[in-house]
Amino acid sequence: MISQLELSRLSGIDRAQISKIEKGKINVTLETIAKLSKALGLQIITLMDLPNNHKMRPFVKWAGGKTQIIDKIKKMLPQKFVNYFEPFVGGGALFLDIAPPKAFINDANKELINAYLCLQNDELYYQLLEKLDEHESKHSEEHYYLIRSMDRLPNFFELPIYQRAARMIYLNKSCFNGLYRVNAQGYFNVPSAKKDKVKTYDSENMERIKDYFSQSDIHISCQDFELAVKQAQAGDFVYFDPPYDVLDNKESFTSYSKESFGKEEQARLARVYKELSLKGVKLMLSNHNTIFINELYKDFNINIVKAKRMINSNANGRGDVEEVIITNY
Ligand SMILES: C[S@@+](CC[C@H](N)C(=O)[O-])C[C@H]1O[C@@H](n2cnc3c(N)ncnc32)[C@H](O)[C@@H]1O
Repeated sequence: MISQLELSRLSGIDRAQISKIEKGKINVTLETIAKLSKALGLQIITLMDLPNNHKMRPFVKWAGGKTQIIDKIKKMLPQKFVNYFEPFVGGGALFLDIAPPKAFINDANKELINAYLCLQNDELYYQLLEKLDEHESKHSEEHYYLIRSMDRLPNFFELPIYQRAARMIYLNKSCFNGLYRVNAQGYFNVPSAKKDKVKTYDSENMERIKDYFSQSDIHISCQDFELAVKQAQAGDFVYFDPPYDVLDNKESFTSYSKESFGKEEQARLARVYKELSLKGVKLMLSNHNTIFINELYKDFNINIVKAKRMINSNANGRGDVEEVIITNY
């Protein structure tokens, strides 16, 4: 590993500029790349890949997030596709990692979708960050419960979307176990993690997501998954990451929103999967490796992968679980 100072000395490039390049904050000219490659003894083409080291990551911790099995999923992606669809986008680990130029993302969770909408609009984006900074500076147990209780207010749904998005991100970063869970009335009900300080966002990651959204054709919706994939055509790719089927003989987390996702919903999803497959759409679906899921998708390719369960209110419930990645190609 070479220090910034040493690289600056070898390449003749200012150290501050090297720091900005490392953080992906500035565009680099070919001349700079040539100087860096000479100093590092690397081929220019190797350095051309540098921006890929600055991948986008989810801006929320989401139950069922796919960050830890992302490499396994990526190996199974179709080689080519036209439009990307992710109807249960959640934290969007795969979507943000592969950054497709044209995508249709969707989730039934309105608070989450508000946050994606803010990332797509310059004005809302800066209002969102300002509000997050405010939450960070005011953070205390009292502040947490005050913000948590906002969804009980009659005017909650009339609040500007950046305020609701900031509330969701702040609660996600400061609540116990970092999950988004609502009760039967649809109220967020997770207790505070009792942190002294809270960091609600990584500015570089947020900036990258905002830039990606402004340079790409991203359609964001908040509706049922079935409607969200209606437009998918032959040659498009849909990645389904629904709430998990309940593990055989265990309880599982499925309460992202007040409508739970039970066996009937899993069966409806399997019907949608079959219809899209007949249309020639390329499909991938992940879920728990249960008998029920294996039965629903027995006509497709079922790959078993091991994953660590990261979110569970009971620490004993953490450990390895088997997941399936089901493709029709
Ligand atoms: C397993 S999570 C997705 C995880 C995500 N892929 C990630 O990497 O973080 C499932 C998502 O489905 C959403 N959801 C639940 N029921 C839905 C429905 N009927 N239509 C669309 N989205 C739904 C939940 O709000 C939740 O965000």
